[in-house]
Amino acid sequence: MTIDEAAQIIQSGGVVAFPTETVYGLGANALDPKAILRIYALKQRPSTSPLIVHVDCIEMAQALAADWPLAAEGLARRYWPGPLTIVVKKGPMIPDEATAGLDTVGLRMPNHPLALALIRACGCPLAAPSANPFTRLSPTTAAHVREAFGDQVPLLDGGPTQVGIESTVVSVVDGGITVLRPGMITIPGAGTELAPTGDAHTAPGQHHKHYSPRTRLLLLDRNAPIPEGAAYVWYRTAKPAAQSVQLPDNEAGYAAALYRTLHELDSLSFPLIAIEEVPKEWQAVADRLRRAAF
Ligand code: TXA
Ligand code: MG
Repeated sequence: MTIDEAAQIIQSGGVVAFPTETVYGLGANALDPKAILRIYALKQRPSTSPLIVHVDCIEMAQALAADWPLAAEGLARRYWPGPLTIVVKKGPMIPDEATAGLDTVGLRMPNHPLALALIRACGCPLAAPSANPFTRLSPTTAAHVREAFGDQVPLLDGGPTQVGIESTVVSVVDGGITVLRPGMITIPGAGTELAPTGDAHTAPGQHHKHYSPRTRLLLLDRNAPIPEGAAYVWYRTAKPAAQSVQLPDNEAGYAAALYRTLHELDSLSFPLIAIEEVPKEWQAVADRLRRAAF
């Protein structure tokens, strides 16, 4: 599919899957409530989860916000295009359907040529969650999207994504900078208000079970043995296992390979995927593993 074909589908109220630098998204015209409802239906996502609205420049973001604080401007100038979503007060153009009724909206300018070209060709912002069914692993290749949605969703294929896990989400509505979802962009001095893994979800959209493969996943202490028959994902401590996959011993490399590895192992029907626990300092990766294993 070409960019122009994808743009036509979106302009006529349809949904298109497209690559970003983090994961593939399921995009629709962010200003069209009906188109947004199609995304929720496809994902089988509860309408209490707000969507991220993707823009192709800072000016488009400003136009969608009721209030564009200095913190937003500073973050956008420093990190956009890139894997950072900035939550601000929403302007009147953004329909309630996009934000699950919240008076705030998450805005992000993705760092991917196809995503940016698509937004430009559509001439509108794109509401897009990750292109996976609700609670499933996010897709990092076009094949992952096809496995999940088949022919239901037209797809722009941009190859494997670079970053591999979802964007950092920060809120600037309370004056400061508060991290709501950790990602590969870390902001010095920012506070955090992360959703708990075990409790019922408190922050909007922060469901505790998330990003999960079908196979049961176990985070394993370095000294623990691998259960019989399990696949083993490690980065430092090799161990005998039915199948083992070594990931890079650095957070960016690990993140880039994580979902692809879990998608692959998930398709091989192991009784269990055991994962070597990662350093606490790898906040974004540790967060995704916790949610996947919950
Ligand atoms: O990297 C990404 O962010 C990918 C690509 C496609 O851009 N998108 C993505 O979207 O991960 P999604 O819908 O799977 O996750 C969006 C998360 C929600 O779970 C929610 O926690 C947060 O962003 N979010 C969005 N709007 C928000 C708002 N107004 N207030 C608080 N959190 C919000
Ligand atoms: Mg998601």
